[in-house]
Amino acid sequence: MNISESNRIEMLEWSNDRFAKGKFGQFGPKDGLFYAAFLNDSWPIVFNNVRSQIVSENSIIDLKDSVELISHPNSYADIVIWMPEGSYMHDHQDLLRNEDYETLGGAELIRYNVQLSTANGGGIPCYNMDSDDNHKSIDGTEISLQEGEYILCECKNLHQCSVIVGDKPRIYVSYAFIISKPGVNGSLLKKEIVRGA
Ligand SMILES: [Fe+2]
Repeated sequence: MNISESNRIEMLEWSNDRFAKGKFGQFGPKDGLFYAAFLNDSWPIVFNNVRSQIVSENSIIDLKDSVELISHPNSYADIVIWMPEGSYMHDHQDLLRNEDYETLGGAELIRYNVQLSTANGGGIPCYNMDSDDNHKSIDGTEISLQEGEYILCECKNLHQCSVIVGDKPRIYVSYAFIISKPGVNGSLLKKEIVRGA
């Protein structure tokens, strides 16, 4: 699915401006150096509008709206990720913190990632990977996202992003939701390409 071009540009320009002013936090070095900014009340309304669009289009009931979570709010924050040349994401899962998992009983963290800028090379996310008996990541689904597209990340499944190549960064907004029934909010939205196939 897609957001409007005007919304993409507005979010991208805001992100570029904030990044240029050093307002993004730096993370790494395991994944190269990448940068992230957490949503707060100072973000322009367009970020909330796009969030609302995603909630509507995917019939999401976000438990964050109704349940008092124990973990720090940033644990499940909406974020903008800025990935310059050389950065990547190693294979990982994002799970509810134990204290919240017990409170919510079987709920699941998911994210919808909105592509603001696509790198000229690399920066390809891969979702729904599995692991073998040696905990080595295998297979999964690589998704070449166009600018303005958004995609579901089922965070409990292993996922990663390949190394960014070239001057143009990959920039995306990652909206976090906590849902009560795993899998009810759809699956990967694009044609699937299994690595190695
Ligand atoms: Fe993740």
